[in-house]
Amino acid sequence: MKIIMLGAPGAGKGTQAQMIAEKYHLPHVSTGDIFRANIKNGTELGREAKGYMDRGVLVPDELTVRILLDRVAQEDCKNGYILDGFPRNIPQAEVLDKELEKLGDKIDVAIDMEVPDESIIKRMMGRRACTACGATYHIENVPPKKEGICDKCGEALILRDDDKEETVKNRLNVYHEQTQPLIDFYTEKGILKTVDGTQDMMDVFKTITDILE
Ligand code: AP5
Ligand code: MG
Ligand code: ZN
Repeated sequence: MKIIMLGAPGAGKGTQAQMIAEKYHLPHVSTGDIFRANIKNGTELGREAKGYMDRGVLVPDELTVRILLDRVAQEDCKNGYILDGFPRNIPQAEVLDKELEKLGDKIDVAIDMEVPDESIIKRMMGRRACTACGATYHIENVPPKKEGICDKCGEALILRDDDKEETVKNRLNVYHEQTQPLIDFYTEKGILKTVDGTQDMMDVFKTITDILE
């Protein structure tokens, strides 16, 4: 099964993708997580991506598409995957379709998580992230068992550099301009499913698993 998670920054794509990954034993492929891991490890790719991410704008397609295609070509993606944060504009979606078509393959479902902008800012301010394993927490909604420490891998949690209020506003603008058109794109393909992302985390998950089954 090949699943795309769509939604504004902070809609809960990463949170749900991780739960889907565990339940269905599929790899969780997040371009944002790949960039953050590269920044942490001080790679050339990380240095290049950081400038864009800190401003809340998209990393150029030529860089992002290559990274994504390399990732989904790996062995563990053979039986499917969950894409979180990719595609993020129409050109990325078109490249993905074209590459899958060459393999006689296609995306099965695009899940759009809807959360109004007002709720997003609040969520982002309380978010804490693990750059080692990609787990996501919220100081009020989803606190880790031990403050500042990842439940899953024991690494220190961070406040993401791009979660400052100004940057979040930029990311929301970029989302509305460049990513939201993908809702029509996948609706026309007949594979879009819309989920109310303002529900409690477990209710969102239930809605998604109902769609997948
Ligand atoms: P990326 O890492 O993808 O960030 P994003 O899309 O902005 O989304 P977030 O990760 O911020 O939010 P999320 O939807 O995953 O929400 P989460 O589950 O954490 O991208 C970052 C940057 O990388 C981009 O700005 C860009 O520069 C670059 N980039 C990445 N991909 C790219 C691409 N394809 N092309 C070009 N550039 C790219 O949840 C948010 C918070 O809410 C958490 O604290 C969580 O605990 C909490 N929460 C989750 N669900 C609920 C709920 N139901 N109720 C209450 N709280 C909840
Ligand atoms: Mg995320
Ligand atoms: Zn972790």
